Amino acid sequence: MMKASDLSLAFIAFRRSTMPHAGSLDRLMPFSPEVLAVVRAWFSDPDVQQWLGGPSWPDVLLSLRQSGTAGHGYRGATVIGAKAFVLLDARDTPVALVDTECYDRETRFVGHGEDGPVFDDVPGPHRPLAALSVVVDPDRRRQGFGRAAIQAVVAHPDLAMVDRFVAAIEPGNAGSQALFRAAGFWLLDPEPDWEGMLTYVRDRPSP
Ligand SMILES: CC(C)(COP(=O)(O)OP(=O)(O)OC[C@H]1O[C@@H](n2cnc3c(N)ncnc32)[C@H](O)[C@@H]1OP(=O)(O)O)[C@@H](O)C(=O)NCCC(=O)NCCS
Repeated sequence: MMKASDLSLAFIAFRRSTMPHAGSLDRLMPFSPEVLAVVRAWFSDPDVQQWLGGPSWPDVLLSLRQSGTAGHGYRGATVIGAKAFVLLDARDTPVALVDTECYDRETRFVGHGEDGPVFDDVPGPHRPLAALSVVVDPDRRRQGFGRAAIQAVVAHPDLAMVDRFVAAIEPGNAGSQALFRAAGFWLLDPEPDWEGMLTYVRDRPSP
């Protein structure tokens, strides 16, 4: 007869065999019209709607990423690249989406001016940075896909020029904060910023 310990070992082996490997670059594909309907369905979920947006979000994102935002100004920085990636599971089914937008420098909010918020360069040499947002198929949560998708994107050659990765997360989104901590990010400031967001940061290790 099978003992409880055998059963839990069998479960761990099963979970490992179905889980993606951290940094599995080959499991990433560009977000494209072929997977739009699958990703759109994730946005019927109440948590996804609360923290990211409604079902039109993936359509808007796809058209933004197809038209390209490179060269646009954003909060005192210039966009140097933007790409959304989809993580596939072992059966080639989309399980996570990670959007990235890369900037030539890090800036900080210094106050409100007549034309709106004002930003200054963070002191020191300009370091390219990428802002990340992630969503996992609601039926596949807590299986390691969110962490694997972030690890794979951080290691992706298209983002090789980036020194710092950031994620702006609402204070109430405990799951997302826990995910980014689990993916090696740290909280830049325990106080929410001028928009009420918490920023999680991960620096690329020096070569
Ligand atoms: C947040 C989200 C992306 C997490 O994806 P996921 O695939 O479930 O995360 P993972 O399975 O890779 O989790 C890795 C670790 O993160 C932490 N974590 C993830 N979700 C968590 C949650 N809801 N509560 C507590 N910890 C959580 C855990 O430490 C977890 O490891 P464990 O399962 O071994 O305990 C997913 O819940 C989601 O899509 N939420 C809605 C959209 C959203 O909030 N996006 C973020 C916007 S910035």
